[in-house]
Amino acid sequence: MGDLLCLADYETAAEDRLPEPTWGFLQGGSGAEITLGANRAAFDRLALRPRVLVDVAKTDLGATLLGDPVRAPIGIAPMAYHRLAHPDGEVATARAAAEHGVPFVLSMFASRTFADVAAVTTAPLWLQLYWLRRRDALADLIRRAEDAGIRALVLTVDAPRVARRLRDLRSGFTVPPDITAANVDPAAMAVAQTGESGSSIQSHSREQFDPTITWSDLGWLREFTRLPVLLKGILHPDDARLAVEHGVDGVIVSNHGGRQLDSAIAAVDALPAVAREVAGRVPVLVDGGVRRGTDVLKALALGADAVLVGRPVLHGLAVAGAAGAGAVLGLLRDELAEAMVLAGAPRLADIGPGLLP
Ligand SMILES: Cc1cc2nc3c(=O)[nH]c(=O)nc-3n(C[C@H](O)[C@H](O)[C@H](O)COP(=O)(O)O)c2cc1C
Repeated sequence: MGDLLCLADYETAAEDRLPEPTWGFLQGGSGAEITLGANRAAFDRLALRPRVLVDVAKTDLGATLLGDPVRAPIGIAPMAYHRLAHPDGEVATARAAAEHGVPFVLSMFASRTFADVAAVTTAPLWLQLYWLRRRDALADLIRRAEDAGIRALVLTVDAPRVARRLRDLRSGFTVPPDITAANVDPAAMAVAQTGESGSSIQSHSREQFDPTITWSDLGWLREFTRLPVLLKGILHPDDARLAVEHGVDGVIVSNHGGRQLDSAIAAVDALPAVAREVAGRVPVLVDGGVRRGTDVLKALALGADAVLVGRPVLHGLAVAGAAGAGAVLGLLRDELAEAMVLAGAPRLADIGPGLLP
């Protein structure tokens, strides 16, 4: 891995190692992939305006998220079925998260059990949820997550159904039968494996996800669990306001990595208005297109408390399992530290809108 010097190098190396349909599922976006491209373009468009003659001999990337100390303001975004990228799946990812002391958001569709994942990590584990029609299955999942020591719930609110992803439709992508959602009642998951309608994941979501959910349903979740609840998929400042009014413990500005509403605003473009609305009352995280340390710096300057990183972690897994995912996280952290030194902002508290023109 010594010749892989940045996250883009891991992306290239991962593509060589994965079957084409799997690659399409990992990389792809919805529709014409306009939002997928916009996430990256928005970061590249932002310029940094560094300060000079600041003592930058020591950097400090440590932060506190939902009461837990983390060693960098970087976490792993929830992604289904890590075993598609490496046989060890989420267990390998959890080892990487522990190595770097950063939170790992397990997908509801994680392909390893809570117990297996929790056994190998000291990093905070959060669980992402889609709201299933079968509320008993959702309730059961939350109870088992609590018992396994999960620290927070992340309710994904941008997916009343899974959007059409043309790469998956064209390749006929289905999750191989030996890779399953290890924590969800198998009866609730049966359709995901069958390959009906060309894209199994899309047809599964239509059947299982509850499209009737509104703000008033959050009350059930708040009463059912004491775990902090974050909403993932907030892009509109009015929704950020409603989220805070409904007592959520954090918001994640996200367009699902360009995999849901195509033409949705780039995540980092949506961030400033959301951060302004939230005004520090709860943590604001952002994901979508974070590929470099300077991207993290830009997101923090625009008001994020932390970023989540998605596909690059799967690229690392595909290249070298836990070591590869750890290398990706290490590169991102080292690049962030270097960017902070060169921008004259050695502590997270030094990072603000002044670094942007
Ligand atoms: C292969 C893959 C699977 C994903 N699965 C989920 C999921 O199960 N739940 C969820 O909330 N988001 C899911 N996402 C979206 C990610 O959490 C995240 O929003 C997105 O990947 C961030 O963008 P990035 O990949 O550009 O870093 C998935 C993304 C990918 C690429």
